[in-house]
Amino acid sequence: MTTNTRQKIVAGNWKSNGNAQAITAYLEVFNAGLESIGNEVEVLLAPPSVYLANFAKASERLKLAVQNASAQQEGAFTGEVTASMLQDLGVNYALVGHSERRSLFAETDAVVVEKVARLLEQGVRPILCVGETLEQREAGQAEQVVNAQVQAVLSAFDEAKLAELVIAYEPVWAIGTGKTATPEVAQQMHAAIRKGIAATMPILAERCPLLYGGSVNAANASELFSQQDIDGGLVGGASLKAEEFLNICRSMV
Ligand code: PGA
Repeated sequence: MTTNTRQKIVAGNWKSNGNAQAITAYLEVFNAGLESIGNEVEVLLAPPSVYLANFAKASERLKLAVQNASAQQEGAFTGEVTASMLQDLGVNYALVGHSERRSLFAETDAVVVEKVARLLEQGVRPILCVGETLEQREAGQAEQVVNAQVQAVLSAFDEAKLAELVIAYEPVWAIGTGKTATPEVAQQMHAAIRKGIAATMPILAERCPLLYGGSVNAANASELFSQQDIDGGLVGGASLKAEEFLNICRSMV
């Protein structure tokens, strides 16, 4: 069990999966199970944003997130969903810079900074996703790459502005591959991220929840979550099954 007082967060990222019928069935199981999860754990789901309204019947314990948000404020930007729309709908969190957005949709650090800015303006909490590729890890660059992704955002804001920031460390080689980072490697990376933040923003370093993501499942969650600098998880595939995701949330104590 971790001894710090940071907020504990377990988030599900459905990616481009799910449909209305599946959400109804999921919520039947999930709403009932949520009651057994300690109040100290913030539970979030990020469905595809077109289905946010289908979560109207979700338990109040469940906070909603989106997988992406626009870097623009408003205007002629076809297809973009803005932070003010998310705020309007009561969405609490948004992923930013997920590795699939970075690699498949050319989301650069500069774009990530703009997205974080829009979200903070609207009071939607950004979950900044960072992580190294296998090549970068094998070249011994993992900490350097990840800290550069974090610093790109930190250097664009004052420390006080970032009080609501959440960071998710997701090694690219562990996402959707079934290859989880060992608890030791994950802890080492989280500690390195926290140390990197502390160099310029000591208060943020102490309070910022750092989530681990990458093939988290009900079998490996509790060992990962028990590491000192791991404050929760960002769960992809395993969050699509209500019982399994509940079990993962229960592992966060
Ligand atoms: P995964 O995805 O749990 O399916 O590896 C994690 C993520 O991409 O957030």
